[in-house]
Amino acid sequence: MCGIVGYIGPKKALPILMNSLGRLEYRGYDSSGIAVLANGVPESVLTVVKEKGKLSRLRDKLQRQELNGFAGIGHTRWATHGEPSERNAHPHLDCTRKIALVHNGIIENYAELKSRLSAKGHRFQSDTDTEVAVHLVEHHCAEGLKSGKKDGVLGAFQKAVSEMEGFFAFVLLSVYEPGAIYVFKRSNPLVIGIGDGENFVASDAPAVLSYTNRMIYLDDNEFARVTAKAVEVRRADTLALVRKAVTRISWTISQAEKAGFPHFMLKEIHEQPQVVETILKEKLRAGKIWFDSIDQRVESRLKKIEKIHLVSCGTAYHAGLVANYMIGECARLPVEATVSSEFRYEDPIVGPKDLVILITQSGETADTLAALREAKLKGAFTLGIVNVVGSTIARESDCVIYTHAGPEIGVASTKAYLAQLLTLALFSIYIGKVRGQLSPGQMREYIRWLQKLPGQVRETLAQQSRIKQCARLLFEKKNFLYLGRGFNFPTALEGALKLKEITYSHAHGYPAGEMKHGPIALIDSNQPVICLSPASKTYDKMVSNIQEIRARQGIIVSVATRGDAEMEKISRATFFIPRTLEIFSPILTVIPLQLFAYFVAVLNKRDVDQPRNLAKSVTVE
Ligand code: G6P
Repeated sequence: MCGIVGYIGPKKALPILMNSLGRLEYRGYDSSGIAVLANGVPESVLTVVKEKGKLSRLRDKLQRQELNGFAGIGHTRWATHGEPSERNAHPHLDCTRKIALVHNGIIENYAELKSRLSAKGHRFQSDTDTEVAVHLVEHHCAEGLKSGKKDGVLGAFQKAVSEMEGFFAFVLLSVYEPGAIYVFKRSNPLVIGIGDGENFVASDAPAVLSYTNRMIYLDDNEFARVTAKAVEVRRADTLALVRKAVTRISWTISQAEKAGFPHFMLKEIHEQPQVVETILKEKLRAGKIWFDSIDQRVESRLKKIEKIHLVSCGTAYHAGLVANYMIGECARLPVEATVSSEFRYEDPIVGPKDLVILITQSGETADTLAALREAKLKGAFTLGIVNVVGSTIARESDCVIYTHAGPEIGVASTKAYLAQLLTLALFSIYIGKVRGQLSPGQMREYIRWLQKLPGQVRETLAQQSRIKQCARLLFEKKNFLYLGRGFNFPTALEGALKLKEITYSHAHGYPAGEMKHGPIALIDSNQPVICLSPASKTYDKMVSNIQEIRARQGIIVSVATRGDAEMEKISRATFFIPRTLEIFSPILTVIPLQLFAYFVAVLNKRDVDQPRNLAKSVTVE
């Protein structure tokens, strides 16, 4: 969940580290720090500056210092071990202040290692698990020197890593080798940006995209020695050199900037028409649905699948729930959507006749990655529906379909969710066709409605001021109920999640048919109820639910299909979506809910892009 960066080259490291950290702040923002190495005689010197709170506080502190080194590392933290404080912020130093290290992940056996190292005289300054790593490297460096072995920092780092359990990405800088940054990856992401006479290290590519678009993605259990001119990647066990491909990223830096919007979240909501256009352009060609990664071999495997599992977390789980209905309609196959943290531990009943679809924006979520590995162990065929190109889940899945949403910075997911829904809708239609469940006429009908979507997303967004007005009416309420049925039951869950993530008000999504079994007790004249009521098989049932809420004076806000005068009459406020097929309606109905959550949060002066306690990429369990 933390963000880590590194730089080595001919330029001053500090501005580059701070700029890169700024782009990673979504990963953690409770404290931050940098270490810069200044070459000196007789010895180079490491300077570490850390601060509690957001990166802006570190920036202010750094204005009072001059740091001129050409190599450095940095970190933005989401606390796991030890409260957010300056003392617990990274980088951490060894006893002699000669080695600095930043870490993303958890060292599971840190307590045991800490007591061993303490017994040997190491003094710890923080409550973190991370500090153990740097003392362990110090210990092995000293042992190496004593025994006269010449395996240097890398050898010590290798020994240290072999003693640590858990999952981690480390970046290390030391006075022993001022011309090199060392990195190691196990489970958590690390990418090396290749520059011209300079090199970069980061938790993800957008962090260094303003300097280079050429990236090397490290695989698990790989070390890299990064100097200004070269990158050497080695296997953790044998230290044998590994040849790595350099990937060119097509995202531009402007995609990762706010472009005049007050928040990334609002910008990303407004990028959705473009995202839909891009996906359709990519996957709908000559009236057919194409996935470049699905070849004959994959297709013949998909024909034999007997059950599909959709496995994901958070917003991506809601996309999985929608896909449950989509695949059911198009392919008439048994489908089950499960959250990754349940799937990985429930000894899932999957085997070679199952398709396990992992849905993930980041491609790094720890629980989803573990679920993927579990499914592979059991022989299932795995498909990643992933946004971040080259991420771990994209690389480890048997087959990957990218969602092409571009970089998503706002912690609350919006455009990545829409991209997941559309990609899953296309996949559902595709699998329905491959399995002979859809006639050419049905295919044509789906495609006809799909092509209208970019314009319809734009049309839905055009109601922004109406949605803002409604937010003004309700922003002080502390409890919200969201109801939906069928395809739009998951939309109710997602609408409620968006609201609680960024406003900190309580919101609960529920299947409308279940209202009478409990939530109806909440309804009074103070209770806002957001009702997902587009044209659907269960429209009349939703109207009955709404009447029940009205009879108890609940405040009804509805999302309905344009032209639905009845809904407008019975609701306090109505947001409209254009007419579409029910299967595509979740792609539109969620948009007013994203905007509603956004405006409620802004009116409550919340930190929209970096809500408290959350992180965008959850690489810990
Ligand atoms: C975090 C994020 C959510 C996201 C979830 C799953 O909780 O804050 O926005 O939906 O992780 O992330 P993934 O990258 O796997 O989609």
